[in-house]
Amino acid sequence: MTSDRKWWKERVIYQIYPRSFMDSNHDGIGDINGITSKLDYLKNLGIGIIWISPCFASPNADHGYDISDYRAIMEEFGSMDDFNCMLEEAHKRGIRIVLDLVVNHSSDEHPWFIESRKSVDNPYRDYYIWKKGKVGEDGTMKEPNNWGSFFTPSAWQYDEKTGEYYLHLFSKKQPDLNWDNQQLRKEIYDMMHFWLSKGVDGFRMDVLNCYQKPEGLPDSKILGTCVEGYSLDPKLYANNIGMLSILNEMREQVLDHYDTVTVGETSIITPQIALDYVNEINGPLDMIFHFDVVDSKKHFTWKHFKEVQRKWIKELTNGGGWNSQYFQNHDQPRCVTMYGDDSTERNRVLSAKMLGCLNHTMPGTPFVYQGEELGMTNYNYVDAEQMQDPNATFNYNEMIACGKSHEEAMKVLNLYGRAHSRTPMQWDDSLHAGFSAGTPWQVVHPNYTSINAKYEIEDKESVYHFYKSLIDLRRRHLVLVYGDFQEYEEENDSVFLYSRAYDNETIMVLINFTVKDQTIQYEIPAGKTVLLSNYKEGYCNRLRPFEATIFQL
Ligand code: NOJ
Ligand code: CA
Repeated sequence: MTSDRKWWKERVIYQIYPRSFMDSNHDGIGDINGITSKLDYLKNLGIGIIWISPCFASPNADHGYDISDYRAIMEEFGSMDDFNCMLEEAHKRGIRIVLDLVVNHSSDEHPWFIESRKSVDNPYRDYYIWKKGKVGEDGTMKEPNNWGSFFTPSAWQYDEKTGEYYLHLFSKKQPDLNWDNQQLRKEIYDMMHFWLSKGVDGFRMDVLNCYQKPEGLPDSKILGTCVEGYSLDPKLYANNIGMLSILNEMREQVLDHYDTVTVGETSIITPQIALDYVNEINGPLDMIFHFDVVDSKKHFTWKHFKEVQRKWIKELTNGGGWNSQYFQNHDQPRCVTMYGDDSTERNRVLSAKMLGCLNHTMPGTPFVYQGEELGMTNYNYVDAEQMQDPNATFNYNEMIACGKSHEEAMKVLNLYGRAHSRTPMQWDDSLHAGFSAGTPWQVVHPNYTSINAKYEIEDKESVYHFYKSLIDLRRRHLVLVYGDFQEYEEENDSVFLYSRAYDNETIMVLINFTVKDQTIQYEIPAGKTVLLSNYKEGYCNRLRPFEATIFQL
């Protein structure tokens, strides 16, 4: 593994979904001043970098992932002055700030698109992907190809004004930008300079590997959904030839001029392709998020989880690239509900700590999503509308179209939906969990009366304190950042035993994924120090339910 020291390898990154983090003016919507007011909380937790989900002007068709002005702060979130103050206060505390770069698409309310749709010869026409329809066998006009979108059946929207269709991989309010247009690229690079020259420390890059569309936009051959006629083959929309050269250009024209961190969201990726993007010799980016763990959630097994880790360590980490580690973000259910066990309070606390231990001790930079450090759980939504998420509405309609009942569809959404991570942060036991004195935009989980930051800060045995200790341990023991990874008892799928070794230090991590005791062969040499464990009583030569114990050898 590479041991080239970098600040973004050694720090833990905390993701804030601003809408749900902290509301400072009591309109029910989280905001920038709310973030500023909680910087001390994050500092105390040990966070070194904050990634803020989009906080730019937006009509909120996808809660900020549809941007209408890349250089303005979303009105509900505050002003540019508020942003500048937040940035300054974060830097004063030694916390770096990473913004969300959403440039696969803009909002349809962005001035570029408003211009673009006016006429075929408008100077902005080519900033987006416009095509003429095809005449079908029955003589009717059809979409230019059969692509489906993530949020609607077809990825094309017909526009009356000019009689052409525009491409949108997400909702029709999120038209895809045309990265073949040089002027568009320049505008994006200028915008990146705007934020970086303010002192912003980097970007998380939305839908990163899809900017470049394939030549000729050919039909997709696989059938992706049950809505007849539309499909979305990842081989067509992700990692196209040209993607790497866009990123190299971005590196040269923008990123190389600053000390930044970049992490690309790449839902379709292999370690080999990832190495093109993030290898330490000439990769244009620092990290990517792969989806091999979270995408397997419907059929998740720990055996699969271990295989995924092995594959990425062997091929990416040992191949000269840097990984990221995460169980959760704003698009995923709460990880303790999904991968742990929140059926009893004891198991919730034990398993949330176990997941945290994995996240902070495997190779790669750990990402913690707001509330994960408290062990916040999924909420049981009554209908798709209550979720306030275009993706939930789409998935719900699809399931109903495919013959599922309302109850069956809700069961699926209540297990895997994105809305779980968007319930407001649970700060204390006061009204609306201390998130807002107004009515929150999204339902607050009723368990805030027992699961909240205030109680967990007071309780030394809480999930919060375990996360704080993990972050501190990783800061003090560089072996957890740069150490070589070695696995033991690989064939036992109920446990995960591994060591990390670096610079004369070796640390051993023992994990029991299950709710049952597990016997292992591995014997800890006598007299070794336990650095951290989710059991108070010392290690006892078998792994107790959800045990996570870290030894120094
Ligand atoms: C990925 C983001 O994480 C998600 O929230 C968003 O809906 C899509 N990209 C579209 O921007
Ligand atoms: Ca507010």
